[in-house]
Amino acid sequence: MKNNILVLGGTGKTGRKVVEQLTNRGQKVRVGSRNATPSFDWNVPANWPAAFQGIDKIYITFQPDLAVPGALEAIELLTKEAHKAGIKKLVLLSGKGEREAELCEQVVIHSGIDYTIVRASWFNQNFSESFFLDPILAGHVALPQAQAKVPYVDTDDIAAVVVETLLDDQHNGEIYELTGPRLLTFEDVIQEINKATERNIVFTPISLDAYSKMLKEFQLPADYVWLITYLFTEVIGNEKNSLVTHDIEKVLGRKAKDFSTYVQETAATGVWSSIPKNQRA
Ligand SMILES: NC(=O)c1ccc[n+]([C@@H]2O[C@H](COP(=O)([O-])OP(=O)(O)OC[C@H]3O[C@@H](n4cnc5c(N)ncnc54)[C@H](OP(=O)(O)O)[C@@H]3O)[C@@H](O)[C@H]2O)c1
Repeated sequence: MKNNILVLGGTGKTGRKVVEQLTNRGQKVRVGSRNATPSFDWNVPANWPAAFQGIDKIYITFQPDLAVPGALEAIELLTKEAHKAGIKKLVLLSGKGEREAELCEQVVIHSGIDYTIVRASWFNQNFSESFFLDPILAGHVALPQAQAKVPYVDTDDIAAVVVETLLDDQHNGEIYELTGPRLLTFEDVIQEINKATERNIVFTPISLDAYSKMLKEFQLPADYVWLITYLFTEVIGNEKNSLVTHDIEKVLGRKAKDFSTYVQETAATGVWSSIPKNQRA
């Protein structure tokens, strides 16, 4: 059966892969982003009904994170508007180990619309498409929680699970916890990247205070510094998040992608060999 599916964040890390996989499976897909037509902006709810028109199902990726102040209210409003628009299914991307995100999950669970919650661990792609790329390019990665072991998950696997949950009703009412197949410290990560790229990126453990001071010195916005500090404290600093789960295998019938495979594939794109943004002409 062909569905009309709205993918919020449809050009983002998971969304663009969900769009590609749904399209390959013959579904009708609408990209939800500020630059799409009709446009979807989390800060402009007046425009949401136009983006929801004619849509059966929605994949929700919130910006920047379900833990930030205002996220709960935004998810409440979104589910209300989705209900009004006759949306039949919601799939929410949530963060594993984030208490605030779980409150947002509850809103979706009690929305009166069929749902699946996809709770993901930290993405592999944070090292190639997000906040850790610039320090890697600069050749020096200084991070707190050096002892923490993280079961990084690949966005290819997240997108594949999201697509299954959007298309198959047997996943309705489920909460899936997605992790990769093994635990890595930041030092392990940098070693793997060094091996694959033949670079000599240095990893330095620092305190959380020193890290947040460093981010402020780089003049990053205060709410961004707050979010990163929160994630390092609540998610990475929480031992309960250092657990490997098997939900990817359960949904897809195959093993989750290993971090080394991600590193090999990403090294081959050349993204870790380019010049850092702040050193470009
Ligand atoms: N990174 C992790 O390790 C991790 C782990 C677990 C959960 N998560 C969750 O993943 C979610 C983000 O998903 P993602 O990484 O796939 O997306 P992403 O790459 O962060 O998202 C970028 C997308 O969001 C759109 N966007 C940005 N600002 C927007 C706004 N104000 N209104 C509407 N669209 C906007 C962008 O399009 P335009 O610029 O065109 O608008 C683009 O399509 C967050 O809720 C985060 O909590 C992340």
